Amino acid sequence: MPRGTDLLLPGEIRSRLDTRLFGRRAYYLPEVDSTNRLASELARAGESHGSLVVADHQTGGRGRRDRSWESPAGRNLLFSLILRPEGSAREVLSLTLAFSLGIARALSDLVPTNAGVKWPNDVEVEGRKIAGTLAESSTRGERTTYLIVGIGVNVNERLEEFGGEFRDRACSCYTLTGRDWNRAEVLAAILLQIEKSYDEFARAGFPSMADRYKLSLGILGKRVRFERRGGTVAGTVTGVAPDGGLVVETPGGTLTLYEEEVVRVREEQR
Ligand code: BTN
Repeated sequence: MPRGTDLLLPGEIRSRLDTRLFGRRAYYLPEVDSTNRLASELARAGESHGSLVVADHQTGGRGRRDRSWESPAGRNLLFSLILRPEGSAREVLSLTLAFSLGIARALSDLVPTNAGVKWPNDVEVEGRKIAGTLAESSTRGERTTYLIVGIGVNVNERLEEFGGEFRDRACSCYTLTGRDWNRAEVLAAILLQIEKSYDEFARAGFPSMADRYKLSLGILGKRVRFERRGGTVAGTVTGVAPDGGLVVETPGGTLTLYEEEVVRVREEQR
């Protein structure tokens, strides 16, 4: 095994786990097409809330907006949680925001580093992405029958292993600290924090966390651009709405974004 790779066997994870439910039931695979795909299959077959699917390698890892998620075998964390949330299907966006806040907190405490969120649910350190979340849900009417939250975290990936376009936009625990990290330890820390986020969300809803999310938002007060109705709109991020939408002040007025991909406008591009 190359340096910086370790095995993520369920026993390794369980011995470090401090959660009530998240990850207590776990499926480990050396290789799978996508942990989200397998987790959906398990959820459809009745797998319970909080169960974890984790893999060392994905051959068809999925990212947001139909992109792929590439990760060298054995370096990073690739996992999905099966959830059966009580709330309405409309709450999925703000729930994933709550999760990204939990991931940022876990990485900030453990590494330690100054991890923040990039709306909606990336986690970044000084503008470089360290983790991404893909939520996929199955709904019946207004109810969510199950929600799969798939999370990829760059743990031991070397700078030269990132694809060219990501080399100056991504980072890992290794590139931040110059040392290898035990992935089971990082996973256990993240599971604990996202379980706390989930419990708080279930108890008090996203509004109770909106201020923390806002404070952790790297693009707060910054200029961004996004596509809307066939044109490019630019504006300044001023906050996050109680339902998780991103609030942007534009020349045409205040807009709340839900679907749009937001790109930071660097000063020299203005
Ligand atoms: C993003 O585009 O930022 C979201 C990336 C999510 C990747 C993770 S890796 C584990 C899980 N399985 C997948 O196929 N995707 C998610």
